Amino acid sequence: MSSGVVGQEPETVRKAFEQEFERFTHFRGEGATKSVEHLNLAEAETALRELADLRTRHTGKKSALAGLKKLIGRVAVEERAAFGQQIQQLETEIIEASEAAKRTLEEHVAKLRIERERIDVTLPGRRTRRGHAHPVTLIRQRIEDIFVSLGYTVEDGPEIETDFYNFDALNIPPTHPARSPQDTFYTTEGFALRSQTSTVQIHAMQRRTPPLRIIAPGKVFRRDTPDATHNPMFFQLEGLLVDRGITMGHLKGTVTEFLRQLYGPQTRTRFRPSYFPFTEPSAEFDFSCFKCNGAGCRLCKGSGWIELGGSGMVHPNVLRAVGIDPNEFSGFAFGFGIDRMCMLNFGLDDIRLLFENDVRFLEQFN
Ligand code: DAH
Repeated sequence: MSSGVVGQEPETVRKAFEQEFERFTHFRGEGATKSVEHLNLAEAETALRELADLRTRHTGKKSALAGLKKLIGRVAVEERAAFGQQIQQLETEIIEASEAAKRTLEEHVAKLRIERERIDVTLPGRRTRRGHAHPVTLIRQRIEDIFVSLGYTVEDGPEIETDFYNFDALNIPPTHPARSPQDTFYTTEGFALRSQTSTVQIHAMQRRTPPLRIIAPGKVFRRDTPDATHNPMFFQLEGLLVDRGITMGHLKGTVTEFLRQLYGPQTRTRFRPSYFPFTEPSAEFDFSCFKCNGAGCRLCKGSGWIELGGSGMVHPNVLRAVGIDPNEFSGFAFGFGIDRMCMLNFGLDDIRLLFENDVRFLEQFN
């Protein structure tokens, strides 16, 4: 092999490397750090990958350099040492150049990663916003607590009912006029959404034998046009006590105790005669206004009294409908509106606000 080839070949390889390495040259030596500053993380990472590829291309097994190494054994003996050195030198140059540029890029990548992942521990944290129960639920829970403390159990019943539970068993026969104000939503033949929680009286008496004391809070439905005081869905609280020798005195005492626990010991109560098909006698229950204590204010519309709901002695026909002997047992029942009590307690003037589920409204009441 002629000495010309020996001298030239490494030069060609060097030139080829230098040409490709051109874009990385200023990443080494003086001012290297400055030279990479303009690269963002993705760009710097790409440059690193390309640099590694470049190095493999020029020093790897299939590189021109590797080809030259194979030639060493074939050059003339007297030139072999010099040729070998030349190639060694060339390899060192390529490796050192790419190592230096690699270090600069790596430092830059590390710096950018730290910056990206830096946490400012002095920044105020983001608090998770805690919700709270709906105002109707809050009132219902307070009511339940009071009745449970008086020995009542909380009873549940279906929201879809048959005529039997919603009307017949409650002494409201098909032609009875009391059915029309309680017109409700009918589903399939013979089924409808319950229009009153009084249905649970029947379920409870079928499930248990007297003596029994239950309350049944729950949703009821009526075909009402929504306005400030009406909503097609609202909440009622039913109460029922059946035992031997129960009188209206027990009814008044129980509800009065409930109201005193809810609104304070100064609360007074009164009955007004009324009519419900499932109670006899029946009475509306009023209590002295908790805001003005009976003097008359805006809340009680100047009367000093607030209407709570209906009540009375369980009608013998209702007891008979579930197979309880009215000669042995008597009982009282009551039915109040939970949303109404909620509105009074929180001073709301429109029932619909409770069911629009606007968090800005709801979060004021907890
Ligand atoms: N169920 C009646 C209604 O929805 C309320 C009611 C009145 C329930 C008198 C009773 C009661 O238990 O004794 O209008």
